[in-house]
Amino acid sequence: MKYSIKAGATDKINSDCIAVVVWNKGGLSEEAQLADKVSNKGISKILRSEDFTGTLGQTHIVYNPVGLKSKRLLLIGGGESKKLDSKSAANMFRAGLKAVYASNAASAHFAIASVTVKDETAPWVCKRLAQEAEIASYRYNQTKSKKSKAVTANLISVSPSKGARRKSLEEALKSGSIIGAGINRARHLGNLPGNVCTPSYLADEAIALAKKHSSLQVKILGEKQMARLKMGSLLSVSAGSAEEAKLIVMEYKGAKADSKPHVLVGKGVTFDTGGISLKGGAGMDEMKFDMCGAASVIGAMAAVVQLKLPINIVGLIGAVENMPSSTATKPGDIVTSMAGKTIEVLNTDAEGRLVLCDVLTYAERYKPRSVIDIATLTGAAVATFGSHVSALLSNDDKLSESLIDCGKNSLDRVWPLPLWEEYQPLLNSNFADIANIGGPRAGTITAACFLSRFAEKFKWAHLDIAGSAWNSGAQKGATGRPVALLVEYLSQQKA
Ligand code: BES
Ligand code: MN
Ligand code: ZN
Repeated sequence: MKYSIKAGATDKINSDCIAVVVWNKGGLSEEAQLADKVSNKGISKILRSEDFTGTLGQTHIVYNPVGLKSKRLLLIGGGESKKLDSKSAANMFRAGLKAVYASNAASAHFAIASVTVKDETAPWVCKRLAQEAEIASYRYNQTKSKKSKAVTANLISVSPSKGARRKSLEEALKSGSIIGAGINRARHLGNLPGNVCTPSYLADEAIALAKKHSSLQVKILGEKQMARLKMGSLLSVSAGSAEEAKLIVMEYKGAKADSKPHVLVGKGVTFDTGGISLKGGAGMDEMKFDMCGAASVIGAMAAVVQLKLPINIVGLIGAVENMPSSTATKPGDIVTSMAGKTIEVLNTDAEGRLVLCDVLTYAERYKPRSVIDIATLTGAAVATFGSHVSALLSNDDKLSESLIDCGKNSLDRVWPLPLWEEYQPLLNSNFADIANIGGPRAGTITAACFLSRFAEKFKWAHLDIAGSAWNSGAQKGATGRPVALLVEYLSQQKA
């Protein structure tokens, strides 16, 4: 998709589809007023029919609109103009873009210069529009012999709002589209089936990304190299799988070589059967999404290199497949982590933390400014939060607050759970330094408690995205979360 800022009166713009906002109960935005005037009250007549009333997210297309140069006039409902906040604006754009993409329009112009969003600037509006435009254009096709039609539109233009610098609007469109593309990349990796998206596939994806960008270096560690590093915990998860585990190391340099990096750590369980502690059959297909943390790291890294952020960032992914077999780890087995701590594997289905703990230890070598791990870690996070928010647990209040803030700004929200000492004893083991499960209660917290034992040397936050990373049901598919949050957080950091 191409994006541009295009000035001009609504009736003079020559686009395949020009979009204007109509407010609730028929209030017209400035652009809609002009379109109404030149079309002999064409919009007013539609409103009188009450088929379209301007409620938020409602859309209506008029073909060959009278008095306009554009081929289609798209009315987008904006709801109550005073109540248009960032969330409703994003919803409004999504609805408008969906209507554009459902048509055969090759270009669309958003005549929204007069539309203001509560607490947000004109560049924010452009950024969000471009991000939504990317997201709405994604179609999953890779494993279908009959491909769904790609969207016809290839150009989206936006009217410059008064007083805004054109350059800043253009940059906003660019960064929004980059973030949207990063989100789509994460969605796509998540959607791929477990027999395609293996640990090696994720590694190849990272290598391909590095080939395109000289600011990104990628190295892949196989099982032999991980054994040499004594990553006994991570390797115990892949012990039952024919797929080789990979540690994917992505190093982005946007600042001086000696500037300490921020580190992202992704859980990349490309399929989670539960191992010997086998999961039930119903819905198990969705455990292909158990690498969505890893996908979000790749998506965020892809965005970061294109945004050319002026900091150093390392993306680490523990990529493994969790399978039962005669070589698989058994309940009660004790493994030794890279940190030297022994772990009693009481449940082989609590594998994510076994992978992440060794990757967190690996992260120590960077002396990171912050470490954020992203993982579809616990069913308990789904029970607690549903799909709208990711769980946040952290050993640093400032980092936690900053992530909550970035979640609000990016509409990719996180919410904290306590990481209190009192929960730690639930992980006591009679036979090892620590057990890998903490019993049936407070599952998201005890999982984070486990990780915290391996994150003592840096500022660390854990995002449990089990509920937010994908949708189930008819709209089954990965969401690409929390790429937007991660990019927002990294964009706020300074070298
Ligand atoms: N990948 C799952 C967590 C999960 C389950 C995410 C359902 C989304 C939906 C994780 O590896 C897992 O199996 N966790 C167990 C931990 C338990 C054995 C302590 C869980 O949450 O049931
Ligand atoms: Mn599991
Ligand atoms: Zn898992």
